Amino acid sequence: MNLKGRNFLKILDYSTEEILYLIDLALEFKNKKKNGILHKELNGKNIALIFEKDSTRTRCSFEVACSDLGMGSTYLGPTGSQIGKKETIADTARVLSSIYDGIEYRGFGQDIVEELAKYSSVPVYNGLTNESHPTQVLADFLTIKEHFGYIKGLNFTYFGDARYNMGNSLMVICAKLGVNYTACCPKKYFPNEELVLKCTEIAKENNCKITLTEDVSEGVKDCNVIYTDVWVSMGEDDSLWKERINDLMPYQINMEKIKQSSSNVIFLHCLPSFHNADTKIGKDILDKFGVGEMEVTDEVFESSYSKVFLEAENRMHTIKAVMYATLKDE
Ligand code: CP
Ligand code: NVA
Repeated sequence: MNLKGRNFLKILDYSTEEILYLIDLALEFKNKKKNGILHKELNGKNIALIFEKDSTRTRCSFEVACSDLGMGSTYLGPTGSQIGKKETIADTARVLSSIYDGIEYRGFGQDIVEELAKYSSVPVYNGLTNESHPTQVLADFLTIKEHFGYIKGLNFTYFGDARYNMGNSLMVICAKLGVNYTACCPKKYFPNEELVLKCTEIAKENNCKITLTEDVSEGVKDCNVIYTDVWVSMGEDDSLWKERINDLMPYQINMEKIKQSSSNVIFLHCLPSFHNADTKIGKDILDKFGVGEMEVTDEVFESSYSKVFLEAENRMHTIKAVMYATLKDE
Protein backbone atom coordinates (compact mmCIF):
# COMPACT_ATOMS: atom_id res chain seq x y z
CA MET A 1 0.00 0.00 0.00
CA ASN A 2 1.60 3.29 -1.05
CA LEU A 3 -0.10 6.45 0.23
CA LYS A 4 3.00 8.66 0.07
CA GLY A 5 2.19 12.28 -0.77
CA ARG A 6 -1.60 11.82 -0.53
CA ASN A 7 -3.92 14.37 1.07
CA PHE A 8 -6.47 13.19 3.64
CA LEU A 9 -9.41 15.50 2.92
CA LYS A 10 -12.46 13.24 3.02
CA ILE A 11 -13.20 9.54 3.37
CA LEU A 12 -14.73 9.39 -0.14
CA ASP A 13 -11.21 9.88 -1.57
CA TYR A 14 -9.98 6.62 0.00
CA SER A 15 -10.70 3.05 -1.13
CA THR A 16 -11.95 0.28 1.16
CA GLU A 17 -8.49 -1.33 1.14
CA GLU A 18 -6.75 1.96 1.95
CA ILE A 19 -9.10 2.64 4.88
CA LEU A 20 -8.62 -0.86 6.29
CA TYR A 21 -4.85 -0.50 5.86
CA LEU A 22 -4.85 2.76 7.88
CA ILE A 23 -6.92 1.15 10.66
CA ASP A 24 -4.52 -1.82 10.86
CA LEU A 25 -1.50 0.48 10.78
CA ALA A 26 -3.01 2.49 13.66
CA LEU A 27 -3.41 -0.74 15.62
CA GLU A 28 0.29 -1.54 15.06
CA PHE A 29 1.27 1.91 16.34
CA LYS A 30 -1.05 1.48 19.31
CA ASN A 31 0.62 -1.82 20.22
CA LYS A 32 4.07 -0.26 19.91
CA LYS A 33 3.07 2.62 22.18
CA LYS A 34 1.52 0.27 24.77
CA ASN A 35 4.74 -1.76 24.79
CA GLY A 36 6.93 1.31 25.17
CA ILE A 37 8.57 0.80 21.77
CA LEU A 38 9.82 4.14 20.42
CA HIS A 39 9.17 4.66 16.72
CA LYS A 40 10.51 8.01 15.58
CA GLU A 41 10.32 7.05 11.91
CA LEU A 42 9.64 10.58 10.69
CA ASN A 43 12.49 12.22 12.56
CA GLY A 44 13.32 15.68 11.22
CA LYS A 45 9.97 16.38 9.56
CA ASN A 46 7.55 19.12 10.63
CA ILE A 47 3.79 19.70 10.51
CA ALA A 48 1.75 22.94 10.61
CA LEU A 49 -1.52 22.67 12.55
CA ILE A 50 -4.13 25.26 11.54
CA PHE A 51 -7.11 25.46 13.91
CA GLU A 52 -9.80 28.01 13.06
CA LYS A 53 -12.15 26.23 15.53
CA ASP A 54 -11.53 24.90 19.05
CA SER A 55 -10.22 21.38 19.69
CA THR A 56 -9.03 19.12 22.47
CA ARG A 57 -8.74 15.63 20.90
CA THR A 58 -7.68 16.53 17.37
CA ARG A 59 -5.06 19.07 18.37
CA CYS A 60 -3.57 16.87 21.12
CA SER A 61 -3.64 13.82 18.84
CA PHE A 62 -1.74 15.60 16.07
CA GLU A 63 0.77 17.05 18.53
CA VAL A 64 1.45 13.79 20.38
CA ALA A 65 1.51 11.76 17.14
CA CYS A 66 4.03 14.23 15.69
CA SER A 67 6.19 13.97 18.78
CA ASP A 68 5.99 10.14 18.86
CA LEU A 69 7.05 10.01 15.20
CA GLY A 70 9.98 12.35 15.88
CA MET A 71 8.40 15.32 14.11
CA GLY A 72 8.02 18.94 15.15
CA SER A 73 4.69 20.76 15.02
CA THR A 74 3.50 24.39 15.06
CA TYR A 75 -0.01 25.27 16.29
CA LEU A 76 -1.65 28.16 14.45
CA GLY A 77 -4.84 29.09 16.30
CA PRO A 78 -7.81 31.25 15.31
CA THR A 79 -5.78 34.37 16.16
CA GLY A 80 -2.09 35.20 15.93
CA SER A 81 -1.35 34.32 12.30
CA GLN A 82 -2.06 36.16 9.03
CA ILE A 83 -4.34 33.39 7.71
CA GLY A 84 -7.60 34.67 6.27
CA LYS A 85 -7.07 38.24 7.46
CA LYS A 86 -4.09 39.49 5.46
CA GLU A 87 -3.25 36.32 3.55
CA THR A 88 -5.34 34.06 1.33
CA ILE A 89 -5.56 30.29 1.71
CA ALA A 90 -3.72 29.88 -1.60
CA ASP A 91 -0.79 32.02 -0.41
CA THR A 92 -0.80 30.37 3.03
CA ALA A 93 -0.61 26.95 1.37
CA ARG A 94 2.43 27.93 -0.69
CA VAL A 95 4.20 29.52 2.29
CA LEU A 96 3.56 26.66 4.71
CA SER A 97 4.41 23.94 2.22
CA SER A 98 7.79 25.56 1.63
CA ILE A 99 8.54 25.24 5.35
CA TYR A 100 6.61 22.13 6.50
CA ASP A 101 6.22 18.51 5.36
CA GLY A 102 2.46 18.41 6.03
CA ILE A 103 -0.41 20.76 6.93
CA GLU A 104 -3.44 20.03 9.10
CA TYR A 105 -6.52 22.26 8.77
CA ARG A 106 -9.58 22.51 11.03
CA GLY A 107 -12.16 25.08 10.12
CA PHE A 108 -15.30 25.89 8.22
CA GLY A 109 -16.12 24.95 4.62
CA GLN A 110 -14.73 21.83 2.95
CA ASP A 111 -13.86 24.12 0.01
CA ILE A 112 -11.23 25.81 2.22
CA VAL A 113 -9.32 22.61 2.99
CA GLU A 114 -9.65 21.59 -0.69
CA GLU A 115 -8.23 24.98 -1.72
CA LEU A 116 -5.35 24.58 0.75
CA ALA A 117 -4.57 21.18 -0.77
CA LYS A 118 -4.78 22.55 -4.32
CA TYR A 119 -2.00 25.05 -3.63
CA SER A 120 0.07 22.94 -1.23
CA SER A 121 2.97 20.81 -2.39
CA VAL A 122 2.83 18.71 0.81
CA PRO A 123 0.00 16.49 2.16
CA VAL A 124 -2.97 18.32 3.71
CA TYR A 125 -5.04 16.66 6.46
CA ASN A 126 -8.63 17.60 7.26
CA GLY A 127 -8.93 17.99 11.04
CA LEU A 128 -12.71 18.76 10.71
CA THR A 129 -14.76 20.92 8.41
CA ASN A 130 -18.50 21.60 8.42
CA GLU A 131 -18.95 18.81 5.89
CA SER A 132 -16.58 16.11 7.07
CA HIS A 133 -14.40 14.75 9.86
CA PRO A 134 -12.37 11.96 8.26
CA THR A 135 -9.76 11.39 10.99
CA GLN A 136 -12.56 10.94 13.55
CA VAL A 137 -14.25 8.12 11.65
CA LEU A 138 -10.97 6.21 11.28
CA ALA A 139 -10.73 6.24 15.08
CA ASP A 140 -14.38 5.19 15.35
CA PHE A 141 -13.79 2.16 13.16
CA LEU A 142 -10.56 1.22 14.94
CA THR A 143 -12.64 1.19 18.14
CA ILE A 144 -15.34 -0.92 16.44
CA LYS A 145 -12.78 -3.39 15.10
CA GLU A 146 -11.14 -3.74 18.51
CA HIS A 147 -14.50 -4.37 20.17
CA PHE A 148 -16.17 -6.75 17.70
CA GLY A 149 -13.05 -8.23 16.07
CA TYR A 150 -14.54 -7.50 12.61
CA ILE A 151 -16.29 -4.67 10.76
CA LYS A 152 -18.13 -5.93 7.65
CA GLY A 153 -21.78 -6.85 8.22
CA LEU A 154 -22.34 -4.81 11.39
CA ASN A 155 -25.41 -2.56 11.78
CA PHE A 156 -24.64 1.07 12.59
CA THR A 157 -27.19 3.77 13.46
CA TYR A 158 -26.54 7.48 13.72
CA PHE A 159 -29.11 9.48 15.73
CA GLY A 160 -29.24 13.28 15.45
CA ASP A 161 -28.30 15.85 12.82
CA ALA A 162 -27.23 13.46 10.04
CA ARG A 163 -26.46 16.26 7.53
CA TYR A 164 -23.34 17.60 9.23
CA ASN A 165 -19.68 16.50 9.37
CA MET A 166 -20.10 13.38 11.53
CA GLY A 167 -23.23 12.06 9.82
CA ASN A 168 -21.68 12.53 6.37
CA SER A 169 -18.33 10.92 7.14
CA LEU A 170 -19.91 8.01 9.02
CA MET A 171 -22.30 7.25 6.18
CA VAL A 172 -19.41 7.20 3.70
CA ILE A 173 -17.10 5.02 5.79
CA CYS A 174 -19.93 2.56 6.54
CA ALA A 175 -20.69 2.23 2.81
CA LYS A 176 -17.00 1.69 2.06
CA LEU A 177 -16.52 -0.91 4.81
CA GLY A 178 -19.67 -2.97 4.20
CA VAL A 179 -21.51 -1.75 7.31
CA ASN A 180 -25.30 -1.19 7.17
CA TYR A 181 -25.81 2.52 7.91
CA THR A 182 -29.03 4.02 9.23
CA ALA A 183 -29.57 7.73 9.82
CA CYS A 184 -32.39 8.06 12.34
CA CYS A 185 -33.75 11.61 12.68
CA PRO A 186 -36.51 13.94 11.46
CA LYS A 187 -36.56 14.27 7.64
CA LYS A 188 -35.12 17.76 7.66
CA TYR A 189 -31.90 16.36 9.20
CA PHE A 190 -31.47 13.66 6.53
CA PRO A 191 -28.13 13.88 4.69
CA ASN A 192 -27.71 15.55 1.30
CA GLU A 193 -29.43 13.55 -1.45
CA GLU A 194 -26.43 13.52 -3.76
CA LEU A 195 -24.20 12.06 -1.05
CA VAL A 196 -26.88 9.49 -0.14
CA LEU A 197 -27.05 8.36 -3.79
CA LYS A 198 -23.26 8.09 -3.98
CA CYS A 199 -23.12 6.10 -0.73
CA THR A 200 -25.97 3.84 -1.83
CA GLU A 201 -23.95 2.92 -4.95
CA ILE A 202 -20.80 2.27 -2.90
CA ALA A 203 -22.83 0.28 -0.34
CA LYS A 204 -24.23 -1.96 -3.10
CA GLU A 205 -20.68 -2.89 -4.15
CA ASN A 206 -19.89 -3.80 -0.54
CA ASN A 207 -23.10 -5.75 0.20
CA CYS A 208 -24.55 -3.32 2.69
CA LYS A 209 -27.26 -0.69 2.64
CA ILE A 210 -28.03 2.91 3.55
CA THR A 211 -31.34 3.60 5.31
CA LEU A 212 -32.87 6.95 6.28
CA THR A 213 -35.70 6.77 8.80
CA GLU A 214 -37.63 8.93 11.23
CA ASP A 215 -38.77 5.82 13.09
CA VAL A 216 -36.75 5.22 16.30
CA SER A 217 -37.83 1.56 16.55
CA GLU A 218 -36.40 0.95 13.06
CA GLY A 219 -33.22 2.80 14.06
CA VAL A 220 -32.51 0.71 17.15
CA LYS A 221 -33.54 -2.68 15.72
CA ASP A 222 -30.58 -5.13 15.65
CA CYS A 223 -28.20 -2.21 15.96
CA ASN A 224 -24.58 -2.99 16.95
CA VAL A 225 -23.24 0.56 17.09
CA ILE A 226 -25.30 3.53 18.27
CA TYR A 227 -23.66 6.86 17.46
CA THR A 228 -24.64 10.43 18.18
CA ASP A 229 -23.08 13.90 18.16
CA VAL A 230 -23.92 17.33 19.57
CA TRP A 231 -27.13 18.88 18.24
CA VAL A 232 -25.53 22.25 17.45
CA SER A 233 -22.02 22.10 16.00
CA MET A 234 -19.12 24.52 16.21
CA GLY A 235 -19.70 27.50 13.95
CA GLU A 236 -23.50 27.11 14.03
CA ASP A 237 -25.60 29.84 15.59
CA ASP A 238 -26.60 29.57 19.27
CA SER A 239 -30.14 30.56 18.30
CA LEU A 240 -30.55 27.04 16.85
CA TRP A 241 -30.59 25.32 20.26
CA LYS A 242 -34.33 25.72 20.88
CA GLU A 243 -35.36 24.18 17.56
CA ARG A 244 -32.77 21.40 17.77
CA ILE A 245 -33.83 20.43 21.30
CA ASN A 246 -37.47 20.27 20.18
CA ASP A 247 -36.70 18.31 17.01
CA LEU A 248 -34.05 15.93 18.29
CA MET A 249 -35.09 15.10 21.88
CA PRO A 250 -37.02 12.00 20.66
CA TYR A 251 -33.69 10.81 19.20
CA GLN A 252 -31.70 11.26 22.43
CA ILE A 253 -29.74 8.10 23.29
CA ASN A 254 -31.13 6.76 26.53
CA MET A 255 -31.12 3.33 28.21
CA GLU A 256 -34.46 2.44 26.62
CA LYS A 257 -32.95 2.73 23.12
CA ILE A 258 -29.86 0.77 24.20
CA LYS A 259 -32.05 -2.04 25.57
CA GLN A 260 -34.13 -2.16 22.37
CA SER A 261 -31.05 -2.58 20.16
CA SER A 262 -28.96 -5.75 19.74
CA SER A 263 -27.61 -7.51 22.83
CA ASN A 264 -23.99 -6.63 21.97
CA VAL A 265 -24.53 -2.95 21.18
CA ILE A 266 -21.91 -0.28 21.92
CA PHE A 267 -22.35 3.48 22.20
CA LEU A 268 -19.94 5.86 20.45
CA HIS A 269 -19.71 9.67 20.28
CA CYS A 270 -16.95 11.79 18.74
CA LEU A 271 -17.01 14.07 21.85
CA PRO A 272 -17.28 16.60 23.37
CA SER A 273 -20.73 15.61 24.65
CA PHE A 274 -23.56 17.31 26.52
CA HIS A 275 -24.42 14.35 28.77
CA ASN A 276 -24.77 16.61 31.82
CA ALA A 277 -24.99 20.30 32.63
CA ASP A 278 -21.53 20.59 34.17
CA THR A 279 -20.04 22.79 31.44
CA LYS A 280 -20.57 26.46 30.66
CA ILE A 281 -22.76 25.81 27.61
CA GLY A 282 -24.46 22.85 29.33
CA LYS A 283 -25.40 25.11 32.23
CA ASP A 284 -26.66 27.88 29.92
CA ILE A 285 -28.91 25.36 28.14
CA LEU A 286 -30.22 24.05 31.45
CA ASP A 287 -30.99 27.59 32.60
CA LYS A 288 -32.66 28.55 29.30
CA PHE A 289 -34.54 25.39 28.33
CA GLY A 290 -34.61 23.22 31.46
CA VAL A 291 -32.71 20.43 29.66
CA GLY A 292 -29.70 18.99 31.50
CA GLU A 293 -28.86 16.08 29.19
CA MET A 294 -29.00 16.43 25.44
CA GLU A 295 -27.92 13.99 22.72
CA VAL A 296 -27.14 11.23 25.26
CA THR A 297 -28.17 10.64 28.86
CA ASP A 298 -25.52 10.57 31.55
CA GLU A 299 -26.58 7.00 32.36
CA VAL A 300 -25.69 5.74 28.86
CA PHE A 301 -22.56 7.90 28.62
CA GLU A 302 -21.20 6.45 31.88
CA SER A 303 -22.39 2.88 31.23
CA SER A 304 -20.36 -0.14 30.12
CA TYR A 305 -21.97 0.19 26.63
CA SER A 306 -20.09 3.45 26.17
CA LYS A 307 -16.66 3.16 24.52
CA VAL A 308 -16.18 6.90 24.07
CA PHE A 309 -12.87 7.21 25.91
CA LEU A 310 -11.26 4.30 24.03
CA GLU A 311 -12.56 6.01 20.90
CA ALA A 312 -10.95 9.32 21.97
CA GLU A 313 -7.60 7.60 22.59
CA ASN A 314 -7.81 6.03 19.15
CA ARG A 315 -7.81 9.51 17.58
CA MET A 316 -4.09 9.70 18.30
CA HIS A 317 -3.19 6.27 16.90
CA THR A 318 -5.20 6.79 13.70
CA ILE A 319 -3.90 10.32 13.06
CA LYS A 320 -0.39 8.92 13.52
CA ALA A 321 -1.14 6.24 10.92
CA VAL A 322 -2.37 8.84 8.40
CA MET A 323 0.73 11.02 8.82
CA TYR A 324 3.11 8.06 8.69
CA ALA A 325 1.50 6.54 5.58
CA THR A 326 1.50 9.82 3.67
CA LEU A 327 4.95 11.07 4.74
CA LYS A 328 7.24 8.08 5.17
CA ASP A 329 10.04 7.96 2.62
CA GLU A 330 10.50 4.63 0.79
N1 CP B 1 -13.86 14.73 18.34
C1 CP B 1 -13.13 15.85 18.13
O1 CP B 1 -12.78 16.21 17.01
O2 CP B 1 -12.81 16.49 19.28
P1 CP B 1 -12.10 17.92 19.41
O3 CP B 1 -13.08 18.95 18.90
O4 CP B 1 -11.77 18.05 20.85
O5 CP B 1 -10.86 17.90 18.55
N1 NVA C 1 -20.32 18.08 14.82
C1 NVA C 1 -19.36 18.51 15.79
C2 NVA C 1 -18.21 17.55 15.85
C3 NVA C 1 -17.18 17.88 16.88
C4 NVA C 1 -16.03 16.92 16.89
C5 NVA C 1 -18.89 19.91 15.45
O1 NVA C 1 -18.61 20.18 14.27
O2 NVA C 1 -18.82 20.75 16.35
